[in-house]
Amino acid sequence: MSTEPHVRVLGSKQELSTAAAELFVDVGSRAVAQTGRFVVALSGGSTPKGMNQELATNFSSRLDWQKVFFFWSDERHVPPDHPDSNFKMANETLLSKLPVPADHIFRTPAELQDAGQAAAAYEAALQSFFCLPAGSFPRFDLILLGMGPDGHTASLFPGTTALEETQHLVVANWVEKFSTFRITFTYPVLNSAATVAFLVSGSDKAETINKVFKDPAANLPCQKVQPSDGNVIWLLDKEAAEGL
Ligand code: 6PG
Repeated sequence: MSTEPHVRVLGSKQELSTAAAELFVDVGSRAVAQTGRFVVALSGGSTPKGMNQELATNFSSRLDWQKVFFFWSDERHVPPDHPDSNFKMANETLLSKLPVPADHIFRTPAELQDAGQAAAAYEAALQSFFCLPAGSFPRFDLILLGMGPDGHTASLFPGTTALEETQHLVVANWVEKFSTFRITFTYPVLNSAATVAFLVSGSDKAETINKVFKDPAANLPCQKVQPSDGNVIWLLDKEAAEGL
């Protein structure tokens, strides 16, 4: 059953990154102990860079990386070597620095010209990996998410069609303000996770964080992440939490 979100306010972005790395290895070690593997979806954006750098250095010995399987909660509609690619960021700051088997890395094929085909291919990869019967959803051990100033998370932006998706696991979502498609997990996947962790840093997020926690009627996309049988953890730095 869903529990109340757990909020931790850290003194700085660096402390947030360290706390996120600690959470990652804690959840991961427990998952490996219980099931023999740790299946995690990384977030895009820039905030996770600090966590990745911590994991690749100070925390590199805290997890059996051979038992970790990596997915992404969303991806930009660009090739994997594009500066905007979430895969590129994670590969450069984390995956290339750790002994993760190549076949444990499930990159979104966002280089495909047709974003819908990329989403369908990624959805099929999830269904195959999790051996999902039709109509069921994968249970990630951990899904990492960020939040934009508009309250979006993954690539579930306000006013976009993906917010209403209840059947597909992954969709191509047209984001008008960027005039581009994004490939994103849908709420059924996010809300099937065992643990969801939001990493939010910076004063530009403070007003939105205030709404998330004090205005249930704000109807922000990130507020709809409520795992039916899982935990939500918010790791905020004090700038992002200044309004709480
Ligand atoms: C993306 C993300 C997006 C991101 C937020 C926060 O692909 O950009 O998945 O949801 O997490 O926009 O981004 P920052 O961490 O850069 O502030």
